[in-house]
Amino acid sequence: MRRSYTIRLAPLGFWLTLTLATMKDQIDTLLSEQRRFPPPRAFAARAAATTALYDAGRDWKRFWEEQARALDWMSPWNRVLDWKPPHARWFVDGKLNAASNCLDRHIAGPRRNKAAIIWEGEPGDRRVLTYWDLAREVRRCANALKALGIRRGDRVAIYLPMIPEAVIAMLACARIGAVHSVVFGGFSAESLRDRINDAQAVAVITADGGYRRGQVLPLKRFADEALAHCPSVKHCIVVRRVGEEAFAAMEEGRDHWWHRLLQPVSTESEPEAMDSEDMLFILYTSGTTGKPKGIVHTTGGFLTHVAATTRYVFDLREEDVFWCTADIGWVTGHSYVVYGPLANGATVVMYEGAPDWPERDRFWSIVETYGVTVMYTAPTAIRAFMKWGPEHPSRHDLSTLRLLGTVGEPINPEAWIWYHEHIGGGRCPIVDTWWQTETGGIMITPLPGVTTTTPGSATVPFPGISAELVDANGKRLEKGGGFLTITQPWPGMLRTIYGDDERYQQTYWSRFPGRYFAGDGAKLDEAGYWWILGRVDDVLNVAGHRIGTMEVESALVDHPAVAEAAVVGRSHDLKGQALAAFVTLKDGKQASPGLKDDLKDHVVKKIGAIARPDDILFSADLPKTRSGKIMRRLLKDIAEGRTLGDTTTLADPAVVNRLKEMYEEKES
Ligand code: WT7
Repeated sequence: MRRSYTIRLAPLGFWLTLTLATMKDQIDTLLSEQRRFPPPRAFAARAAATTALYDAGRDWKRFWEEQARALDWMSPWNRVLDWKPPHARWFVDGKLNAASNCLDRHIAGPRRNKAAIIWEGEPGDRRVLTYWDLAREVRRCANALKALGIRRGDRVAIYLPMIPEAVIAMLACARIGAVHSVVFGGFSAESLRDRINDAQAVAVITADGGYRRGQVLPLKRFADEALAHCPSVKHCIVVRRVGEEAFAAMEEGRDHWWHRLLQPVSTESEPEAMDSEDMLFILYTSGTTGKPKGIVHTTGGFLTHVAATTRYVFDLREEDVFWCTADIGWVTGHSYVVYGPLANGATVVMYEGAPDWPERDRFWSIVETYGVTVMYTAPTAIRAFMKWGPEHPSRHDLSTLRLLGTVGEPINPEAWIWYHEHIGGGRCPIVDTWWQTETGGIMITPLPGVTTTTPGSATVPFPGISAELVDANGKRLEKGGGFLTITQPWPGMLRTIYGDDERYQQTYWSRFPGRYFAGDGAKLDEAGYWWILGRVDDVLNVAGHRIGTMEVESALVDHPAVAEAAVVGRSHDLKGQALAAFVTLKDGKQASPGLKDDLKDHVVKKIGAIARPDDILFSADLPKTRSGKIMRRLLKDIAEGRTLGDTTTLADPAVVNRLKEMYEEKES
């Protein structure tokens, strides 16, 4: 087993070095950014964070122990940390329940009738759930799940649109100790099937459909397609969201309407006392192989990390209205729509649909209507707003906003400045937060009110987090370009990859022994600020969504006309990166615009709309080394319109020049 890994590692090192070299231009441009934004005095005067927090963070175990104390524990931990690299156990032997931390402790006090969720559907319908409402719904759902025989430790897949039931379902699982695996509603039936089967889920919670740009996405139909190949699933619970428009056939015995199932159920329920290290959820994310990884997060550490970061990074106050625009299908939704804000008793805004439906001012109308005070979104969205023009936000009163955040990809300074001026009215600090599905919560970020910011830099590690820059040999660098690594365990870190601990160790801890390697290239400047450059592995970031090139390649070669495919990322104004696919066809198959569309649709069917290739180029050959490896680096040069790098190791150098000419003439 081990040996095959070693063989795979050698070229990776080589590849990393090359990737860094191609990032040089980016590094130089970033270096020229000079603008500094010290914390506004009025903000600093009332901020939750102070410089003392950085001092406290130096004693990192103690710091996290302090943060854990802010939660409700059913029994205390005996040790803060058990660290047998690369396996961590935080708050050993402590017992708690994540859902009761998000609900029960608030309804016992003055937050009982505070709005927990202010929800707006895409068609314009609204629901407000107070903490009391939410707690009762969660208990009902928890009891209904139990009545179906779902037990502590069982996995439950959640495939829902952005509706309150998604939060209710997650917290109901947490309450009974079942492990949720949320699958983004934009994923295809096949993606859902693979995730259900990998986790051996016993139940699926879905909806008849959801709204997206006025269209109905028939989720139950996708779920049915998936469930035909998921023998582990005994029950499917269906929320009625759209009604007639997405008629869903119900299978006797397996399928249950949510409203019928929950209606007669009692709201009495005791939360399970979960071990701090019991699994809270699995969330699948793309890696460098064709198979998505089930990232495992546990209860005590995850909740401690997200509760603390929400409090300090978003400077939460009792009266805040917090809007994180992410879908709960991604980790940002788990950590900063659900667990972090609700653990802090905050009011969260949730919106079901697209930012440009029915008009391009939808987000700003939401900010105005609900008086949003803290907003957290992605650079790709900000770039779209920029392109649509400032007239959309300027039609609305955005004066309630006091803090802005970004996440998901590097933010270009122009977008940062635009966000600051046109959304933040020049007065709101911006927190550019770097983290990953694997890290559970925010890792590198300014503390608003404390840290001076500079557009494009995520600034410094959150207290209690230790990041270091290394070169391709793992040697620590004080400054310059290199690879971002984390040197000490942190509470929200992933514990393993579901069902594949070997892959966990291999993927994150073997490239630089003793360090967690995040897959990102970064630059550390003179002041010790971090500038994240993006992925240096075969993972792309398309509109803030993580997509593995291998997944898209496997989807393409699954098509009967395709012999071979290579997928690379190229820069894209709005999406950050776009997908460029180079495809060779089987003998006798003819390239045509129709086939191109067919292939794009095929990828959508296999993975989901987020993976639809932007460009497809048919070619008789792909550039390969003499040992037969496709040279993606050269394909990337072609897709980016750059001069080609070193071609001397190619078996047939003519291939790549032909491709370059074709690419320059293409219409995607
Ligand atoms: C990858 C993780 C964590 C929530 C959303 C994405 C990139 C994330 C930033 C940032 C530059 C960023 C990295 C990272 N990324 N935040 N502030 N600046 N890059 O989670 O899908 O697990 O993707 O997103 O490349 O590795 P994810």
